[in-house]
Amino acid sequence: MSTPEQSTSEVNKAIPNGIAVPDFDLPFPDKSEIITSNLLKLIDLTPNERHKSIFKNLVTHIHQFINETSITTEEWMNTVQFLTRVGQTCSPIRQEFILLSDVLGISALVDSLNNPPVQGATESSVLGPFFTEDAPDVEQGDSIASEGSGQYMYVEGTIKSIHGDPIENAVIETWETNDHGFYDVQYKDREKADCRGRLRTGKDGKYGYRAVVPIAYPIPGDGPVGELLIATGRHNMRPNHLHLMVEAPGYRKLVTSLYPKGDDFLQSDAVFGVKKSLVVDLEDVNDDAEARRRGFPKGGSFKLLHFDVTLVPEVEAEKAREEFAQLRSKNAPA
Ligand SMILES: [Fe+2]
Repeated sequence: MSTPEQSTSEVNKAIPNGIAVPDFDLPFPDKSEIITSNLLKLIDLTPNERHKSIFKNLVTHIHQFINETSITTEEWMNTVQFLTRVGQTCSPIRQEFILLSDVLGISALVDSLNNPPVQGATESSVLGPFFTEDAPDVEQGDSIASEGSGQYMYVEGTIKSIHGDPIENAVIETWETNDHGFYDVQYKDREKADCRGRLRTGKDGKYGYRAVVPIAYPIPGDGPVGELLIATGRHNMRPNHLHLMVEAPGYRKLVTSLYPKGDDFLQSDAVFGVKKSLVVDLEDVNDDAEARRRGFPKGGSFKLLHFDVTLVPEVEAEKAREEFAQLRSKNAPA
């Protein structure tokens, strides 16, 4: 559409981005390797040093990958179409790119590099796509799950620092599947949060709440990422787990999950979230009186999950991350 001040010819003129021609000429890319070196010379113009460094590395590796695999034109077009469909599958409530990042191990790798192990600290795990902001506040001993959502489970422990002090007022966000292997957000008729809650520790750092035993579940398999897993002969299951996100002032926020022992998928998790230290025992408590004392309406028996969460002071966590990054860059090939 032309505005009154513009003639049709002006409007139709393609507009360049305003960046000047570089003060050097690139050799004509008559050989495949000249394409790569030309692009790297252009990337040198990137004003932001961090962007320059990341982009140089990315281009070097992608061009090397194309060279080494001798990708055919058809294969490359299939790749482009695949990525197009990944984008088209995304919606306000579905993120197929995160799923792709998850199944390629990238989410777990980024998490692992940013949260290197610190002696004595609880290890992190992937956030996953099912966290929501609308978890209800629950008191100590309350249930995060509606009655009938699954087998009773009581979760308890202490939130403390790596130096041993209990942490008061830590906020714990926790979420899990029901006994059908679904998160509440996967139900179209969801009216309110279920199988998720938010609670705070008291002075002694202790926490405890009622929940249900989570169930192993498949990550969405009806999109291009599902097709990728089938094409590569991989199942799309995650072992059963309870998500925890713990925040306390002055400490590095911890996003993690606890994985009960015995699940078939512990060592082939589709998204690489399980770490050995996060595999936990569920204790059988067959004591009707104890079940009722803990607030389970039908009594009977329940599973007990006891886990102490250990947080790292922010300053120490950042130091560990920087040291780990330096160590890797020192060991990286030039
Ligand atoms: Fe999950």
